[in-house]
This record gives sequence, C-alpha cells and structure tokens, in this order.
Amino acid sequence: MLHIDFLILTFLYDDFAAPNVAPKGIVQQSSLYNMYGEPKNDIDGSLDNNYLYIQCAGTSEQKDPWMVDLKSKHNIFTVAITNRGNCCAEKINGGEIRIGNYGENGGIKNPICGVITSMSSGQTLAFDCDGMVGQYVTIHIPRAERSVTICEVQVFGLPSDDAATSMKPETKPRKAFIHRPPESDNLASRGITSQSSTYDHLGASKNAIDSSPSAIYSSGHCSHTDLDVEPWWRVDLMSTFNVTKVKITNRGCCCPERINGAEIRIGNIPEDGGTQNTICVKIESLGRGKEREYVCGMVGRYVTITIPGRIEYLTLCEVKVYGNNVSEGYAGKK
Ligand SMILES: *[C@@H]1O[C@H](CO)[C@@H](O)[C@H](O)[C@H]1NC(C)=O
Ligand SMILES: *[C@@H]1O[C@H](CO)[C@@H](O)[C@H](O)[C@H]1NC(C)=O
Repeated sequence: MLHIDFLILTFLYDDFAAPNVAPKGIVQQSSLYNMYGEPKNDIDGSLDNNYLYIQCAGTSEQKDPWMVDLKSKHNIFTVAITNRGNCCAEKINGGEIRIGNYGENGGIKNPICGVITSMSSGQTLAFDCDGMVGQYVTIHIPRAERSVTICEVQVFGLPSDDAATSMKPETKPRKAFIHRPPESDNLASRGITSQSSTYDHLGASKNAIDSSPSAIYSSGHCSHTDLDVEPWWRVDLMSTFNVTKVKITNRGCCCPERINGAEIRIGNIPEDGGTQNTICVKIESLGRGKEREYVCGMVGRYVTITIPGRIEYLTLCEVKVYGNNVSEGYAGKK
C-alpha cells in the first residue's frame, strides 16, 4: 500500500482562488487521487471540452511513489513539478516521472518521461512528455530511503481515444531529460507589470511574468484584462534596454484568436500603457498555448502588448523580454 499524505487542491475550472492550501486541504489516500475534471465553460463558452488540467498542492511526505490515476488513457504533454521551498531541496534529485497504463506498484514500471537531476528550493520545472500515453502519472524516487515532499504537480494532457496505443513497460528512459530552468536573462521577470484592467482574481498582470509554463488560465498563471477598448499590458523594465526579442505565450484551452492583431510596442513613453511607443511587430495569430519569439532590436524601458482597433480581452500566459542595458552611464557587459 502507498502511504501518502497529500493535501489536495484543485483549481480546475472553478472560480475560486487558491491562496493557502494547508488549512483547507483534505488529506487523502492515493486511491483518491482522481482529482481532475472537464473544464467548465469559460467566459464565452468557447472552451475546449477535453483539455485536462490537474493541480494538486500541499505536502507529501513519502517513500513510495506518488501517483495520479487519470481514470482513462490520456496524451500527456507536460508535467510540471514544484519543489518544496523551505528546506531539503535535494531530496527530489533522481526522481523519475513515469507515464503509462500500469497502475500496479505505483506505476514504477511505466515508461519514463523525464528524470529530475536537480531542482532548487521552490523551483518549478516543466517536463515535456511529448504526448506520451497513459492513465497513470507517477513520481518515483528509486531506492528512496528518504521521504520526499512535492509541493505541486500539474499535468497537462488530453484524453486519448486511441486504445491501440497502450505501451509496454520499459526500463530505459524514453527521451532525454528536458527542463526549463528560470532564465536569468529574461528581463521581464524582474520588471513591473500593469494592464488596462483586470478580469478577475486569476488574471493579475504579473501572472504573465511568473515564469510558469502553464498556459491554462484557471491555473492562475496568465494575465487577463476585461473586455476593453484597445486593451493593453505593459512591463516596465526599470532601465532603458535595447530589446532584442520578445517571447509571448498565448492562452491555452480557449480563445487563441483573441490575440490576433495585437501589437508589441517598445519605447520610453509610459503613458496610455505605452501604446504610443514604436511598434515592433503585429501578431497576426498565435496558436493555442503556443510560444513565439519576435525579434525587435528596439530601445525602450517599456514593453507593451496592445490590441488596437477593437473591444477585446487580452490574455497573456507568459511574456519574456531579452536585451541589453543601454541606460546612460551603463558600462556595458564585462
Ligand atoms: C539595438 O540592437 C540592434 C540589434 O539587435 C542593433 O541593430 C541596433 O543598432 C541597436 N540599437 C542601439 C541604439 O543600440
Ligand atoms: C542598467 O544600467 C544602469 C546604469 O549603469 C543601472 O543603474 C541599472 O541598474 C541597470 N538596469 C538593470 C535593470 O540592470
């Protein structure tokens, strides 16, 4: 039997915030880890009905594998894990993320999506599982003598209808370890954000610079304005930079077309959300949950994304900015 004490919290598509999980969490056994659901309708009802998103938060002290049973086969695209923040960051080292259809022994015979070589305290790493098929997602520290705390696990995938794709157990890693460490050169993550308005408690402007890989609005990792005339989102880089490129992640799970026609503007005019600054690029369209890089080579302290000429919602799941400090008196890179 697994001995897992885990406080579960599901954000799913419910309209409640998730501030502090500990007081309200419910301690459950692993067999009850079936906390997922179909998305409820979003603001305009155009949400896809088959996108899976699981988020469990809390504390798990365990020697046995942690496993979630999705109840049916899914194609898993991303598993994001958040390490505990206060101590013992290294306990998670060597952890294997396994996905497959074998639920026995905590799923430890299922194929490997990735191996956690190391993670710092409180860090979130996303593992690209490339649509691996499985009913079970396991996090297992082989030969664990130690107990491990996992603060948060997010699983992104779609129900898989293809019954023929069941996988055989494998012992070799299926693909190389992939993770996205925090980017020290992303200027946006150290900037100050604002936006024309905020749709609800999940849509703060700063969510677009939180370095989270999640493109699911209800996870609280995206910004979201109201239905505004020419909505804007702006990051103040606090110094003047020659902005070489901007990367934008569009919203997943619904409404990718809302971003169509958005402009990236860069310059030193703070007023009107920076919408008077010079245009770098007009985004014709961007796929659901997709990230794209735009090359700019333009000087400014403010980077703005705005949708001109219409009434629209502006949702951004991540904005990353790269460039060189060209402030007066800046000595340049050593
Ligand atoms: C900014 O960088 C671009 C290349 O990305 C370069 O062509 C341009 O001259 C630079 N501008 C300034 C003012 O440094
Ligand atoms: C840019 O350079 C200026 C001048 O040296 C410095 O004061 C400022 O802190 C730098 N900005 C950032 C964000 O590093």
